[in-house]
Amino acid sequence: MDHFRYLDHRLHCEQVPLDQIAEHVGTPFYCYSRATLERHFDVFRDAFSSIEHLICYSVKANSTLAVLDTLAKRGAGFDIVSGGELARVKRVGCPGQRVVFSGVGKTEAEIRAALEHRVLMFNVESQPELLRINALAGQMGLRAPIALRINPDVDPATHPYISTGLKRNKFGIPHQQAEELYRLAATLEHVQPIGLDCHIGSQLTTLEPFVDALKRVKALLLRLRQQGIAIRYLDLGGGLGIPYDTQQTPPHPERYAEALLREIAGLDVVLILEPGRVIVGNAGILVARVEYVKSGEEKRFIITDAGMNDLLRPALYDAHHTILPVTRRFDREEIMADVVGPICESGDFLARDRMLPEFHAGELLAVRSAGAYGFSMSSNYNSRPRAAEVMVHQDRFAVVRPRETIEQLMEHEVPFV
Ligand code: LLP
Repeated sequence: MDHFRYLDHRLHCEQVPLDQIAEHVGTPFYCYSRATLERHFDVFRDAFSSIEHLICYSVKANSTLAVLDTLAKRGAGFDIVSGGELARVKRVGCPGQRVVFSGVGKTEAEIRAALEHRVLMFNVESQPELLRINALAGQMGLRAPIALRINPDVDPATHPYISTGLKRNKFGIPHQQAEELYRLAATLEHVQPIGLDCHIGSQLTTLEPFVDALKRVKALLLRLRQQGIAIRYLDLGGGLGIPYDTQQTPPHPERYAEALLREIAGLDVVLILEPGRVIVGNAGILVARVEYVKSGEEKRFIITDAGMNDLLRPALYDAHHTILPVTRRFDREEIMADVVGPICESGDFLARDRMLPEFHAGELLAVRSAGAYGFSMSSNYNSRPRAAEVMVHQDRFAVVRPRETIEQLMEHEVPFV
């Protein structure tokens, strides 16, 4: 459930009409509903309330400070993958004990910064990384809490670019090798194995892959305990999908929680989850203005002022995002069209071969489900300033990140002399 709906034919975010925001901040802009964000977080967290748990929102999905701040205030922890994300969660006042550090390529500087902030645990993805963490923690006179990220080799049945739990993916440690690496970790002086981690992919729309992966890591956890390696934290990553259109029906977080909780009943672990998309995806939209409508030989093109630099998902994954007119009218015909941006690439589209109401130049349109991996994957390609970001709360809105200026884009550049 989200808080984007038509009132008097004007699309609103909570109680604020989007055309009013467009007038104030210009286009394109991302707009986040705080009530939706809070609701999604609460529903997810409450689904796990029967056991000890920590919800570590995955910062990569949307790292805007206003989003992080909203979630931190509700008690969220964070899953980070870089020194930059660490700095952001520190900025919103999140204590290290609510932070897990994932990622295959942690640098020395990033590991040191995370040790200084006393993160809850490092999700380690390889033997060399384990040894590096041990060495750095030793230099700092610390013992680093770690989990190994297990690659359980299950097929998440999602887009190949966002599946991570298969043998051929670069992520995690093959589950056959994990036991040996845990034994090595247990002998190292400056790491302490306290957790077990796995994340198999993103935008999963069925529960089976989660349960299959959990069965594998659970068996491993029990074997480790028999060997005296006391695993207290079980991190099952993120990955729960969202409906991008009405045909998709991913499981509700409550069903997801039931399936996981059934499997870990009696295990005596603290459960960690790293949801990203399911929290923020449908709490945000992208609003753009139609610049031109052009009829090609074969199809119609609706050319907007938002492009693949603003929202990369359609170009990169052929992802579907629902497109709505900001002002609804019932006298228009539906026509087949491509919604494209101004960027000089044929891959620059927001929708392809879509039946849409006839749009006219100057009108506003909204791209739904753009809260996750929208702004956070945006770029300055074609020297385009990144879009403004707005947050709405009830009948108020605020710009939480102003549109970049062209001056800012060139600010630190100098000619070579
Ligand atoms: N934990 C780890 C270790 C991850 O790699 C990810 C996402 C998450 C948690 C959060 O997953 P979520 O709950 O959001 O599915 N750019 C792609 C998605 C990439 C996901 C990368 N990892 C997209 O736009 O679909």
